[in-house]
Amino acid sequence: MHILTVKQFGENQIDRLFSLADSIRSCPMTWENVLSGKVLGTLFFEPSMRTRQSFEAAMVRLGGRILTEPNAAVNSSIAKGESLEDTVQTFSQYIDCLVMRHPIAHSVMNVAKYSDVPVINGGDGPNEHPTQALLDLYTIDREKGLNKLKILFTGDLMCSRTIHSLVSLLERYDVEMYLATSASDCGGPKIQMFHESCIKDYIGDMDVVYMTRHQRERVMKRQASEFVMTCDIADLLKKDAIIMHPLPRTGELPSSIDAYPQAIYLKKQVKNGMWIRMALLWELLK
Ligand code: NCD
Repeated sequence: MHILTVKQFGENQIDRLFSLADSIRSCPMTWENVLSGKVLGTLFFEPSMRTRQSFEAAMVRLGGRILTEPNAAVNSSIAKGESLEDTVQTFSQYIDCLVMRHPIAHSVMNVAKYSDVPVINGGDGPNEHPTQALLDLYTIDREKGLNKLKILFTGDLMCSRTIHSLVSLLERYDVEMYLATSASDCGGPKIQMFHESCIKDYIGDMDVVYMTRHQRERVMKRQASEFVMTCDIADLLKKDAIIMHPLPRTGELPSSIDAYPQAIYLKKQVKNGMWIRMALLWELLK
């Protein structure tokens, strides 16, 4: 089985995955050799810290080993003119599972059929980032419960694959979603939109604020979000709200916000990425 889009996950499957992540999180020691002898390959055509390293950390913590190519655009034979299909087919002969990131939407899905082992989409351009969405959903569920929540998205709504995948998952739950937009961004039918300059009128009502950076590398002629989380705005948050961000952050989320109890991006959200990826790798490779 490949993991290419959040659309392939049913609610029961998600519940099972989250329970498994809970078990691993509560006692990681008992999982430290379960994938011994297995090899995870990572093939990244775009920069990454968290996705690649958390997959690699997950594999190592399950007792498996890794073959990593963090700069595939330069180091793989693609640079000599080889096709992506041949690169993937070749790499898949050496490994038991492949995590791949690529700048072109749908590219991971299109080459997965050339792999002899499960392929995990680690982000395909502006399209999807399914494992980030699973860890984000897990974080929201375990922090707040997925019931009658108000969730606000800020930042680059058009090009952020993490928002696209997370919104697609959240549409199945009893949540109200809001998009704080800059002029040219657009939302979907189940999402309420308002201009980001009005954020102070809404923020005090939100349970989750999910921020993203401006995706500068995805060149599109459109107005960038100018929203910055200031202390003035954070002071308006409910005490038990949470601020999330897939990271990396740029100017939109200054480090002065890190001390707020609502700020869970650097600790809980990042670590949850590893537990969820351990659970996924175990499900795929056991
Ligand atoms: C995100 C990504 O690569 O899409 N980062 C991540 O995987 N944690 C978000 C981003 O780069 O803005």
